Amino acid sequence: MGARLDTITLKDPTRFEDPFKMNYNKYVKTQYERVRLHETVSGPHKDPRNDRDLDPEYRKYAIPMAAISHYGEYSASVYCQKAAHLSPFRAFREACLFQAMDELRHSQMDWGRLKDLGVKDSYEVGKIWRSEGYCAVKDAFDWIVGLEDAFQIIFTANFVIEGAGAVSYFPNMVKLAEQNGDHIFSVINWTRFQDEVRHVAFARAMVKAIVEDDERNVKILEQWQEAAFENLGPGIGQVMGYQDLVPEPYLTSGEWMVAALSHYAEHSMKHGLELPDLDALYEGAADLPVSYEALMTERSDASLSWWEDGTPGAGALDQPSHKGAMRESEALEGVNHGGEH
Ligand SMILES: [Fe+2]
Ligand SMILES: [Fe+2]
Repeated sequence: MGARLDTITLKDPTRFEDPFKMNYNKYVKTQYERVRLHETVSGPHKDPRNDRDLDPEYRKYAIPMAAISHYGEYSASVYCQKAAHLSPFRAFREACLFQAMDELRHSQMDWGRLKDLGVKDSYEVGKIWRSEGYCAVKDAFDWIVGLEDAFQIIFTANFVIEGAGAVSYFPNMVKLAEQNGDHIFSVINWTRFQDEVRHVAFARAMVKAIVEDDERNVKILEQWQEAAFENLGPGIGQVMGYQDLVPEPYLTSGEWMVAALSHYAEHSMKHGLELPDLDALYEGAADLPVSYEALMTERSDASLSWWEDGTPGAGALDQPSHKGAMRESEALEGVNHGGEH
C-alpha cells in the first residue's frame, strides 16, 4: 500500500472546466445514441450467427475477457461515484457523476455479453475474479476503489489508465474481437470507447488546472503516478497477457503495452510529469500466471470482491473534503429554494 500520499487543493476551482461542457440534456441525447449503437448487435437485434460461428478456442477467452471488462467497469462506476462524493466543487462533481453513469452502462454491456455466452450469475463469474489468472487485475481495481481522494481517483483511473488505454486497449479490443468474428464484443468495445475519450479529456483538463494553479503540484502528481504504476502495473501486465492467447491476436501484448505507455508519456510530459522507473511497472508482473488453467483455479487467499463484502469506501463520509461538499450543498439548497421547482 505504501505511505499516505499528499493531497492537492485547487485554490482556484474556476480553472477547471469540463471540456465537453456536458449537461443533463446533452448527456441523455449522447447516451441514447450509444444505447442504439449497442442495440444494433445485442438484445432483440442479436444475430445468432455471431456466437454460433465463434471459434471454440476464442470462446474460451471470450468469457474471461468480458469478465475482466465487467469488473473494471463496475469498479469504475463506484470509484467515480466516490470521486463525486468526495469532490471539492460542483463542476468537478458533475463530470464525475456523468462518468459514473457511463461506467455503469458499460458494465451492463459486458454483463449482457457474459449472459449471451452462457454465464448464469455473478457467483459463476466471481470464480474468475478470484482466480490465479485474474488476481492482479482484481487487486488493481480494488486498489482504485479504495482511494480516498477525488483528484487522485480521477488522476489514477482516467489520466493514467484510460489515458494510456485510449489508443491501445480499447481500439485494440475492437479489432481483436472483429478479427475473431466476435462482432458483438467489437461493437461493445467501440461503444464504450466513444465515452472513454471524454473521460480522458476530463482528466487532462483536471491535470492542466492543477498544474496551472500551482506548479509545485507536479511533485504530488508524480507521487500519485508512481503509486499508480506500482499498484496497477502487475494487473495491466496480466490483462495484456491474454491478448496473446486468443486464436487471432491483434498485435502482441508487448506492442499493446508500448503503444499505451508512449501515448501516456506524450501527454504526461506536456504537464511536466516525469515517468517513474518503468521497471517498477513490470516488477512482479512477469511471474503472474496468464493461462486458461489459471483462470479456472481459485486463489486460496483471494478476498471477496468489494461489492460482495460491504459498502466500498465506508468511512468516506468522515473525509474533510466531504465536509466541504456538505457546506457547498447547503449553500446550493438556499439557491434552489429561491429558484425554479
Ligand atoms: Fe468504461
Ligand atoms: Fe471510463
